[in-house]
Amino acid sequence: MSTQALLKTYKLGDLELKNRVIMAPMTRGRADNPEKKAIPELHSEYYRQRASAGLIISEGSQVSKDAVGYINTPGIHTKEQVEAWKDVTSAVHNADGKIFIQLWHVGRMSHPDFHGGELPLAPSPINPNSKSFTPEGFKDTVVPREMTAEDIKQTIEDFKQAAKNSMEAGFDGVEIHSSNGYLFHQFFNATSNHRNDEYGGSIEKRSRILFDVLDAVKEVMPENRIGIRLNPSMHGLFGMTMDEETIPTFDYIIKKLNEYDLSYLHLSEPFTDVSEISFAETDIAKRYRPIYKGTLMINTNFDQEKGNAVLDDGDADLVAFGKPFISNPDLAERFEQGVELDSWDEDTFYSGGAKGYTDYEVKTERATVLK
Ligand SMILES: Cc1cc2nc3c(=O)[nH]c(=O)nc-3n(C[C@H](O)[C@H](O)[C@H](O)COP(=O)(O)O)c2cc1C
Repeated sequence: MSTQALLKTYKLGDLELKNRVIMAPMTRGRADNPEKKAIPELHSEYYRQRASAGLIISEGSQVSKDAVGYINTPGIHTKEQVEAWKDVTSAVHNADGKIFIQLWHVGRMSHPDFHGGELPLAPSPINPNSKSFTPEGFKDTVVPREMTAEDIKQTIEDFKQAAKNSMEAGFDGVEIHSSNGYLFHQFFNATSNHRNDEYGGSIEKRSRILFDVLDAVKEVMPENRIGIRLNPSMHGLFGMTMDEETIPTFDYIIKKLNEYDLSYLHLSEPFTDVSEISFAETDIAKRYRPIYKGTLMINTNFDQEKGNAVLDDGDADLVAFGKPFISNPDLAERFEQGVELDSWDEDTFYSGGAKGYTDYEVKTERATVLK
């Protein structure tokens, strides 16, 4: 039994995780087919190689055609997509791994090129003034179309159906992507949500859509297999601007999440230096550990030492690693065996194909099932 906190087992609801080294969700732009489905020989191999993680969280996967905003991201809303994911989930399970799928709607972080010339949907018609990665390269985002009550209802249904599809595809659970400036985050922040119906105005109303989605999703799958991801101190990225109400909004959301028996709450430490912003929280784990009563997963810029420390200090239960998992498929074994980490190549993050995806080396002794 390892003395490293990261390598201890963890009981996540009714799942037994073999360690606390979690693979963070990462878009990799490899679904380069008209159906936007996972490619068995590519995606299955990539995730299988990383199955020694305590839990894999898949790349963001769109819940509907409206939800897409990046080139070659996979979906989970058609029969073909569900069938293709089955190959991935069985590859991971055969290698003794566990995998959740991240359910995603980008909202305004998209471009008309993805929607047959129609405008992307968002809480309010406010341009994030960002870039969208389209099949023709990076393009400026546009002023989106304000979602109607019917659009919101449909989106809630789309998440519910996607959760159902995820179970059919053999995933162990889902993570609802409510962070990083995408649709739900756009509802939470007052600078991107100017609505004056039941989904805008007060903190409660701006947060409502997430709880409506959660209530719908838990009708079709166990509550303790649903994770939620939030990035409270995101500022100046993907069109997100914090204000005095931002942290109180996340305080409200996170307190209310205690009413659910979730699998976990996945929080990101700030992506950028927010120490000069008076209304930002610089230490997310420390702020929310006492507030959230369930399993807390923390992410952003962790290495082995910091990961063990945050667990030893009791500020989190699980640590999600992003980029280190791109270039070190055997990350958990490297921590265990003290093997130096390989560095990642940003140029191949979204470049398609096997290069920079499935060709990073395994440099440790692995359990035979993972070889
Ligand atoms: C190539 C790449 C793709 C990413 N795609 C997603 C995504 O689909 N969903 C998501 O929630 N976060 C995404 N992220 C953010 C990561 O999950 C993670 O929060 C970030 O990389 C910080 O963690 P790290 O310092 O361990 O890399 C992505 C990050 C990278 C580098």
